[in-house]
Amino acid sequence: MTRYQRLLLDLPQTPGTWLITGVAGFIGSNLLETLLELDQRVVGLDNFATGQPRNLEEVRRQVSPERWARFQFIRGDIRHLHDCRQALIFVPVATGGPPRPVEHVLHQAALGSVPRSLEDPITTNASNVDGFLNMLVAARDAGVESFTYAASSSTYGDHPGLPKVEEQIGRPLSPYAVTKYINELYADTFARSYGLHSIGLRYFNVFGRRQDPEGAYAAVIPKWTAAMLRGEEVFINGDGSTSRDFCYVDNAVQANLLAACASAEARNQVYNIAVGERTSLDRLFHTLRQNLAKNGVRYNQAPRYRDFRSGDVHHSQADIGKAQRLLGYAPQYDLQAGLARAMSWYIAQNLAPAPTSSRPHTQLAAR
Ligand SMILES: NC(=O)c1ccc[n+]([C@@H]2O[C@H](COP(=O)([O-])OP(=O)(O)OC[C@H]3O[C@@H](n4cnc5c(N)ncnc54)[C@H](O)[C@@H]3O)[C@@H](O)[C@H]2O)c1
Repeated sequence: MTRYQRLLLDLPQTPGTWLITGVAGFIGSNLLETLLELDQRVVGLDNFATGQPRNLEEVRRQVSPERWARFQFIRGDIRHLHDCRQALIFVPVATGGPPRPVEHVLHQAALGSVPRSLEDPITTNASNVDGFLNMLVAARDAGVESFTYAASSSTYGDHPGLPKVEEQIGRPLSPYAVTKYINELYADTFARSYGLHSIGLRYFNVFGRRQDPEGAYAAVIPKWTAAMLRGEEVFINGDGSTSRDFCYVDNAVQANLLAACASAEARNQVYNIAVGERTSLDRLFHTLRQNLAKNGVRYNQAPRYRDFRSGDVHHSQADIGKAQRLLGYAPQYDLQAGLARAMSWYIAQNLAPAPTSSRPHTQLAAR
Protein backbone atom coordinates (compact mmCIF):
# COMPACT_ATOMS: atom_id res chain seq x y z
CA MET A 1 0.00 0.00 0.00
CA THR A 2 1.36 3.47 -0.88
CA ARG A 3 1.52 6.25 1.70
CA TYR A 4 -1.30 8.03 -0.12
CA GLN A 5 -3.55 4.97 -0.08
CA ARG A 6 -2.94 4.72 3.67
CA LEU A 7 -3.76 8.43 4.09
CA LEU A 8 -7.02 8.05 2.15
CA LEU A 9 -8.05 5.36 4.62
CA ASP A 10 -6.87 7.26 7.72
CA LEU A 11 -8.24 10.75 7.04
CA PRO A 12 -11.98 9.90 7.27
CA GLN A 13 -11.31 8.30 10.67
CA THR A 14 -9.85 11.56 11.98
CA PRO A 15 -11.66 14.49 10.32
CA GLY A 16 -9.47 17.59 10.31
CA THR A 17 -10.07 21.27 9.54
CA TRP A 18 -8.53 22.71 6.40
CA LEU A 19 -8.30 26.05 4.62
CA ILE A 20 -8.03 26.10 0.83
CA THR A 21 -7.22 29.53 -0.58
CA GLY A 22 -8.10 29.90 -4.25
CA VAL A 23 -10.84 27.32 -3.68
CA ALA A 24 -12.93 28.45 -6.66
CA GLY A 25 -10.02 27.92 -9.03
CA PHE A 26 -8.89 24.87 -10.93
CA ILE A 27 -6.59 23.15 -8.42
CA GLY A 28 -8.38 24.58 -5.37
CA SER A 29 -11.76 23.16 -6.38
CA ASN A 30 -10.21 19.74 -7.00
CA LEU A 31 -8.66 19.83 -3.54
CA LEU A 32 -12.05 20.78 -2.12
CA GLU A 33 -13.80 17.87 -3.79
CA THR A 34 -11.26 15.35 -2.49
CA LEU A 35 -11.23 16.69 1.08
CA LEU A 36 -15.02 16.74 1.33
CA GLU A 37 -15.16 13.18 -0.02
CA LEU A 38 -12.78 12.29 2.83
CA ASP A 39 -15.20 13.78 5.40
CA GLN A 40 -12.97 16.75 6.25
CA ARG A 41 -14.13 20.22 7.33
CA VAL A 42 -13.06 22.87 4.84
CA VAL A 43 -12.96 26.66 4.78
CA GLY A 44 -12.53 28.07 1.28
CA LEU A 45 -11.33 31.59 0.49
CA ASP A 46 -11.53 33.18 -2.94
CA ASN A 47 -12.13 36.59 -4.52
CA PHE A 48 -13.17 35.14 -7.92
CA ALA A 49 -10.33 36.98 -9.67
CA THR A 50 -9.89 33.99 -11.99
CA GLY A 51 -11.86 31.31 -10.12
CA GLN A 52 -15.53 30.72 -10.87
CA PRO A 53 -18.64 30.11 -8.75
CA ARG A 54 -19.53 27.33 -11.21
CA ASN A 55 -16.50 25.34 -9.98
CA LEU A 56 -17.89 25.35 -6.46
CA GLU A 57 -21.33 24.52 -7.82
CA GLU A 58 -19.87 21.52 -9.61
CA VAL A 59 -18.24 20.26 -6.41
CA ARG A 60 -21.55 20.70 -4.61
CA ARG A 61 -23.20 18.45 -7.19
CA GLN A 62 -20.43 15.81 -6.81
CA VAL A 63 -20.60 15.41 -3.02
CA SER A 64 -23.45 14.49 -0.69
CA PRO A 65 -25.41 17.27 1.11
CA GLU A 66 -23.92 16.08 4.44
CA ARG A 67 -20.41 16.54 3.12
CA TRP A 68 -21.23 19.87 1.47
CA ALA A 69 -22.47 21.11 4.86
CA ARG A 70 -18.88 20.77 6.11
CA PHE A 71 -17.76 23.49 3.67
CA GLN A 72 -17.69 27.16 4.60
CA PHE A 73 -16.99 29.63 1.81
CA ILE A 74 -15.61 33.10 2.44
CA ARG A 75 -15.57 35.56 -0.42
CA GLY A 76 -12.45 37.46 0.47
CA ASP A 77 -9.07 38.62 -0.70
CA ILE A 78 -5.66 37.48 0.51
CA ARG A 79 -4.42 41.04 -0.06
CA HIS A 80 -6.40 41.88 3.09
CA LEU A 81 -4.91 40.48 6.29
CA HIS A 82 -8.31 40.53 7.97
CA ASP A 83 -9.75 38.14 5.36
CA CYS A 84 -6.82 35.74 5.86
CA ARG A 85 -7.35 35.71 9.63
CA GLN A 86 -11.10 35.21 9.26
CA ALA A 87 -10.51 32.21 6.98
CA LEU A 88 -8.50 30.40 9.64
CA ILE A 89 -11.57 29.64 11.74
CA PHE A 90 -14.20 27.16 10.62
CA VAL A 91 -17.67 28.21 11.75
CA PRO A 92 -20.08 25.30 11.22
CA VAL A 93 -23.13 27.35 10.27
CA ALA A 94 -24.94 24.50 8.50
CA THR A 95 -24.33 21.78 11.07
CA GLY A 96 -24.04 23.80 14.30
CA GLY A 97 -21.35 23.20 16.93
CA PRO A 98 -18.39 25.24 18.14
CA PRO A 99 -16.00 27.11 15.81
CA ARG A 100 -12.82 25.19 15.09
CA PRO A 101 -9.36 26.52 14.26
CA VAL A 102 -7.92 25.51 10.90
CA GLU A 103 -5.16 22.90 11.22
CA HIS A 104 -3.91 22.62 7.64
CA VAL A 105 -3.59 25.42 5.08
CA LEU A 106 -3.44 24.60 1.36
CA HIS A 107 -2.54 27.97 -0.15
CA GLN A 108 -3.38 28.02 -3.85
CA ALA A 109 -4.62 31.59 -4.36
CA ALA A 110 -2.45 33.56 -6.76
CA LEU A 111 -2.61 35.16 -10.17
CA GLY A 112 -1.14 32.55 -12.48
CA SER A 113 0.24 33.00 -15.99
CA VAL A 114 3.59 34.32 -17.18
CA PRO A 115 2.08 36.63 -19.86
CA ARG A 116 -0.34 38.20 -17.36
CA SER A 117 2.57 39.04 -15.08
CA LEU A 118 4.53 40.57 -17.95
CA GLU A 119 1.56 42.79 -18.80
CA ASP A 120 0.65 43.71 -15.22
CA PRO A 121 3.43 42.90 -12.75
CA ILE A 122 2.02 45.14 -9.98
CA THR A 123 -1.31 43.31 -9.74
CA THR A 124 0.42 39.94 -9.91
CA ASN A 125 2.82 40.98 -7.16
CA ALA A 126 0.00 42.21 -4.91
CA SER A 127 -1.75 38.84 -4.81
CA ASN A 128 1.27 36.58 -5.15
CA VAL A 129 3.67 38.33 -2.77
CA ASP A 130 1.67 40.66 -0.47
CA GLY A 131 -1.18 38.14 -0.33
CA PHE A 132 1.22 35.28 0.33
CA LEU A 133 2.88 37.20 3.18
CA ASN A 134 -0.53 37.99 4.69
CA MET A 135 -1.42 34.29 4.65
CA LEU A 136 1.89 33.37 6.29
CA VAL A 137 1.41 35.96 9.05
CA ALA A 138 -2.19 34.87 9.67
CA ALA A 139 -1.19 31.17 9.71
CA ARG A 140 1.70 31.86 12.07
CA ASP A 141 -0.54 33.78 14.47
CA ALA A 142 -3.24 31.08 14.33
CA GLY A 143 -0.67 28.38 15.10
CA VAL A 144 -1.62 26.08 12.22
CA GLU A 145 -0.07 22.61 12.02
CA SER A 146 0.95 22.82 8.38
CA PHE A 147 1.13 25.38 5.58
CA THR A 148 1.37 23.85 2.11
CA TYR A 149 1.65 26.30 -0.77
CA ALA A 150 1.61 26.31 -4.56
CA ALA A 151 5.13 27.04 -5.75
CA SER A 152 6.03 26.79 -9.43
CA SER A 153 8.41 25.18 -11.92
CA SER A 154 8.90 28.72 -13.32
CA THR A 155 11.40 29.15 -10.45
CA TYR A 156 13.91 27.14 -12.53
CA GLY A 157 14.08 30.14 -14.88
CA ASP A 158 17.02 30.02 -17.25
CA HIS A 159 18.82 27.09 -15.60
CA PRO A 160 19.59 24.72 -18.49
CA GLY A 161 19.71 21.46 -16.48
CA LEU A 162 17.26 18.65 -17.24
CA PRO A 163 15.56 17.06 -15.45
CA LYS A 164 15.06 19.85 -12.92
CA VAL A 165 16.30 19.15 -9.41
CA GLU A 166 15.10 21.29 -6.55
CA GLU A 167 18.50 22.68 -5.52
CA GLN A 168 19.53 24.01 -8.93
CA ILE A 169 17.60 27.06 -10.09
CA GLY A 170 18.48 29.82 -12.52
CA ARG A 171 17.41 33.43 -12.87
CA PRO A 172 13.64 34.02 -13.13
CA LEU A 173 12.34 34.78 -16.63
CA SER A 174 9.16 36.67 -15.66
CA PRO A 175 7.61 38.70 -12.84
CA TYR A 176 5.39 35.66 -12.11
CA ALA A 177 8.48 33.52 -11.57
CA VAL A 178 9.92 36.16 -9.23
CA THR A 179 6.76 36.12 -7.10
CA LYS A 180 6.81 32.34 -6.81
CA TYR A 181 10.47 32.33 -5.81
CA ILE A 182 9.81 35.04 -3.22
CA ASN A 183 7.13 32.74 -1.75
CA GLU A 184 9.79 30.09 -1.17
CA LEU A 185 12.13 32.58 0.48
CA TYR A 186 9.40 33.87 2.80
CA ALA A 187 8.26 30.35 3.72
CA ASP A 188 11.83 29.36 4.53
CA THR A 189 12.32 32.49 6.62
CA PHE A 190 9.08 31.89 8.53
CA ALA A 191 10.23 28.36 9.33
CA ARG A 192 13.53 29.66 10.76
CA SER A 193 12.14 32.75 12.48
CA TYR A 194 8.82 31.54 13.81
CA GLY A 195 8.84 27.75 13.48
CA LEU A 196 5.99 27.70 10.91
CA HIS A 197 5.84 24.28 9.20
CA SER A 198 5.57 24.78 5.47
CA ILE A 199 6.06 22.82 2.27
CA GLY A 200 6.25 24.34 -1.22
CA LEU A 201 5.03 22.27 -4.15
CA ARG A 202 6.64 23.30 -7.40
CA TYR A 203 3.87 22.32 -9.76
CA PHE A 204 4.82 21.71 -13.36
CA ASN A 205 2.06 22.04 -15.99
CA VAL A 206 -1.03 20.85 -14.16
CA PHE A 207 -4.13 20.00 -16.20
CA GLY A 208 -7.55 18.41 -15.71
CA ARG A 209 -11.22 19.04 -15.02
CA ARG A 210 -12.25 22.61 -14.22
CA GLN A 211 -9.15 24.20 -15.75
CA ASP A 212 -10.54 27.20 -17.59
CA PRO A 213 -10.16 27.01 -21.39
CA GLU A 214 -11.23 30.63 -21.90
CA GLY A 215 -9.31 33.89 -22.02
CA ALA A 216 -5.94 35.15 -23.11
CA TYR A 217 -4.13 33.38 -20.26
CA ALA A 218 -5.65 29.92 -20.64
CA ALA A 219 -3.23 26.99 -20.30
CA VAL A 220 -2.30 25.00 -23.37
CA ILE A 221 -4.27 21.77 -22.80
CA PRO A 222 -7.69 23.32 -22.09
CA LYS A 223 -7.13 25.98 -24.74
CA TRP A 224 -6.28 23.50 -27.49
CA THR A 225 -8.95 21.04 -26.43
CA ALA A 226 -11.63 23.73 -26.60
CA ALA A 227 -10.33 24.93 -29.99
CA MET A 228 -10.36 21.39 -31.38
CA LEU A 229 -13.85 20.69 -30.06
CA ARG A 230 -15.09 23.84 -31.77
CA GLY A 231 -13.21 23.15 -34.99
CA GLU A 232 -11.08 26.27 -34.50
CA GLU A 233 -7.43 26.83 -35.36
CA VAL A 234 -4.74 25.71 -32.89
CA PHE A 235 -1.65 27.90 -32.50
CA ILE A 236 1.70 26.51 -31.40
CA ASN A 237 4.10 29.06 -29.91
CA GLY A 238 7.52 28.25 -31.38
CA ASP A 239 8.51 25.37 -33.65
CA GLY A 240 6.67 22.66 -31.69
CA SER A 241 9.77 21.30 -29.97
CA THR A 242 9.06 23.14 -26.71
CA SER A 243 8.44 20.49 -24.08
CA ARG A 244 6.68 20.25 -20.73
CA ASP A 245 6.10 17.77 -17.92
CA PHE A 246 2.29 17.65 -17.92
CA CYS A 247 0.80 16.65 -14.59
CA TYR A 248 -2.80 15.52 -14.10
CA VAL A 249 -4.53 17.41 -11.29
CA ASP A 250 -5.16 14.32 -9.13
CA ASN A 251 -1.38 13.95 -8.80
CA ALA A 252 -1.23 17.52 -7.46
CA VAL A 253 -4.06 16.78 -5.03
CA GLN A 254 -2.14 13.75 -3.79
CA ALA A 255 0.97 15.87 -3.25
CA ASN A 256 -0.97 18.45 -1.19
CA LEU A 257 -2.46 15.86 1.15
CA LEU A 258 0.87 14.11 1.60
CA ALA A 259 2.59 17.45 2.26
CA ALA A 260 0.04 18.47 4.90
CA CYS A 261 0.65 15.23 6.77
CA ALA A 262 4.41 15.02 6.11
CA SER A 263 6.99 13.94 8.65
CA ALA A 264 9.23 16.47 10.42
CA GLU A 265 12.22 15.71 8.16
CA ALA A 266 10.15 16.44 5.05
CA ARG A 267 8.96 19.87 6.22
CA ASN A 268 10.27 23.30 5.31
CA GLN A 269 11.40 22.22 1.87
CA VAL A 270 10.22 22.50 -1.73
CA TYR A 271 9.32 19.60 -4.03
CA ASN A 272 8.83 19.10 -7.73
CA ILE A 273 5.32 17.89 -8.47
CA ALA A 274 4.95 16.38 -11.91
CA VAL A 275 5.21 12.98 -13.58
CA GLY A 276 8.87 13.03 -14.59
CA GLU A 277 8.21 12.81 -18.34
CA ARG A 278 8.68 15.32 -21.13
CA THR A 279 6.23 15.87 -24.00
CA SER A 280 6.81 18.27 -26.90
CA LEU A 281 4.01 20.57 -28.04
CA ASP A 282 3.94 18.77 -31.39
CA ARG A 283 3.44 15.44 -29.60
CA LEU A 284 0.82 16.99 -27.33
CA PHE A 285 -1.10 18.24 -30.37
CA HIS A 286 -1.22 14.74 -31.87
CA THR A 287 -2.06 13.11 -28.55
CA LEU A 288 -4.97 15.48 -27.97
CA ARG A 289 -6.23 14.81 -31.48
CA GLN A 290 -6.04 11.05 -30.93
CA ASN A 291 -7.86 11.32 -27.62
CA LEU A 292 -10.66 13.32 -29.19
CA ALA A 293 -10.92 10.80 -32.02
CA LYS A 294 -11.37 8.05 -29.41
CA ASN A 295 -14.33 10.10 -28.18
CA GLY A 296 -15.77 10.39 -31.66
CA VAL A 297 -14.55 13.96 -32.34
CA ARG A 298 -12.55 14.42 -35.57
CA TYR A 299 -10.09 17.31 -35.88
CA ASN A 300 -8.32 17.40 -39.22
CA GLN A 301 -6.67 20.84 -39.27
CA ALA A 302 -2.90 21.28 -39.03
CA PRO A 303 -1.59 23.53 -36.25
CA ARG A 304 -0.37 27.06 -37.06
CA TYR A 305 3.12 27.89 -35.78
CA ARG A 306 3.97 31.36 -34.48
CA ASP A 307 6.74 33.06 -32.47
CA PHE A 308 8.06 31.71 -29.19
CA ARG A 309 6.42 33.47 -26.25
CA SER A 310 8.54 35.75 -24.12
CA GLY A 311 9.18 34.49 -20.58
CA ASP A 312 8.66 30.84 -21.56
CA VAL A 313 11.39 28.28 -20.92
CA HIS A 314 12.10 25.95 -23.83
CA HIS A 315 12.16 22.63 -22.01
CA SER A 316 10.85 21.52 -18.68
CA GLN A 317 10.95 18.14 -16.98
CA ALA A 318 10.93 17.32 -13.30
CA ASP A 319 13.06 15.01 -11.27
CA ILE A 320 10.40 13.81 -8.82
CA GLY A 321 12.79 11.68 -6.75
CA LYS A 322 12.79 14.00 -3.74
CA ALA A 323 8.99 14.03 -3.49
CA GLN A 324 8.95 10.26 -3.87
CA ARG A 325 11.51 9.74 -1.13
CA LEU A 326 10.41 12.29 1.47
CA LEU A 327 6.67 12.69 0.85
CA GLY A 328 5.89 9.22 -0.48
CA TYR A 329 4.54 10.87 -3.65
CA ALA A 330 3.65 8.33 -6.36
CA PRO A 331 1.84 9.95 -9.32
CA GLN A 332 -1.14 7.83 -10.35
CA TYR A 333 -1.71 9.38 -13.77
CA ASP A 334 0.68 9.93 -16.67
CA LEU A 335 -0.25 12.24 -19.55
CA GLN A 336 -2.32 9.64 -21.39
CA ALA A 337 -4.27 8.50 -18.33
CA GLY A 338 -4.87 12.10 -17.25
CA LEU A 339 -5.95 13.20 -20.72
CA ALA A 340 -8.46 10.36 -20.97
CA ARG A 341 -10.16 11.75 -17.85
CA ALA A 342 -9.80 15.41 -18.75
CA MET A 343 -11.21 14.84 -22.26
CA SER A 344 -14.43 13.33 -21.05
CA TRP A 345 -14.88 16.32 -18.74
CA TYR A 346 -14.29 18.87 -21.50
CA ILE A 347 -16.63 17.02 -23.83
CA ALA A 348 -19.28 16.91 -21.11
CA GLN A 349 -18.94 20.70 -20.80
CA ASN A 350 -20.67 20.95 -24.14
CA LEU A 351 -17.68 22.46 -25.89
CA ALA A 352 -18.26 20.26 -28.94
CA PRO A 353 -19.55 21.67 -32.24
CA ALA A 354 -23.34 21.84 -32.53
CA PRO A 355 -24.90 19.10 -34.66
CA THR A 356 -26.58 21.52 -37.13
CA SER A 357 -24.54 23.08 -39.95
CA SER A 358 -26.17 26.48 -39.36
CA ARG A 359 -24.40 26.81 -35.97
CA PRO A 360 -20.75 25.97 -36.55
CA HIS A 361 -19.69 26.28 -32.87
CA THR A 362 -21.67 25.95 -29.67
CA GLN A 363 -20.96 28.33 -26.85
CA LEU A 364 -19.65 27.19 -23.52
CA ALA A 365 -22.43 25.79 -21.36
CA ALA A 366 -23.06 27.98 -18.33
CA ARG A 367 -19.78 29.80 -18.70
N1 LIG B 1 -2.06 25.18 -13.09
C1 LIG B 1 -0.73 25.05 -13.17
O1 LIG B 1 -0.22 24.41 -14.09
C2 LIG B 1 0.18 25.67 -12.15
C3 LIG B 1 1.58 25.53 -12.30
C4 LIG B 1 2.41 26.10 -11.33
C5 LIG B 1 1.88 26.77 -10.26
N2 LIG B 1 0.51 26.92 -10.15
C6 LIG B 1 -0.03 27.65 -8.99
O2 LIG B 1 -1.08 26.87 -8.42
C7 LIG B 1 -2.04 27.73 -7.84
C8 LIG B 1 -3.43 27.39 -8.36
O3 LIG B 1 -3.42 27.56 -9.77
P1 LIG B 1 -4.68 27.23 -10.69
O4 LIG B 1 -4.16 26.69 -11.96
O5 LIG B 1 -5.69 26.49 -9.93
O6 LIG B 1 -5.19 28.71 -11.01
P2 LIG B 1 -6.65 29.34 -10.90
O7 LIG B 1 -6.52 30.70 -11.50
O8 LIG B 1 -7.66 28.43 -11.45
O9 LIG B 1 -6.85 29.44 -9.33
C9 LIG B 1 -6.34 30.49 -8.54
C10 LIG B 1 -7.44 30.93 -7.60
O10 LIG B 1 -6.94 31.96 -6.74
C11 LIG B 1 -7.94 32.97 -6.64
N3 LIG B 1 -7.27 34.23 -6.29
C12 LIG B 1 -6.39 34.94 -7.04
N4 LIG B 1 -6.01 36.05 -6.39
C13 LIG B 1 -6.69 36.04 -5.21
C14 LIG B 1 -6.73 36.93 -4.12
N5 LIG B 1 -6.04 38.08 -4.12
N6 LIG B 1 -7.52 36.63 -3.06
C15 LIG B 1 -8.26 35.49 -3.05
N7 LIG B 1 -8.26 34.60 -4.07
C16 LIG B 1 -7.49 34.88 -5.14
C17 LIG B 1 -8.58 33.01 -8.01
O11 LIG B 1 -9.85 33.63 -8.04
C18 LIG B 1 -8.64 31.53 -8.36
O12 LIG B 1 -9.84 30.94 -7.89
C19 LIG B 1 -1.59 29.15 -8.14
O13 LIG B 1 -0.85 29.61 -7.01
C20 LIG B 1 -0.66 28.98 -9.31
O14 LIG B 1 0.31 30.01 -9.38
C21 LIG B 1 -0.34 26.38 -11.06
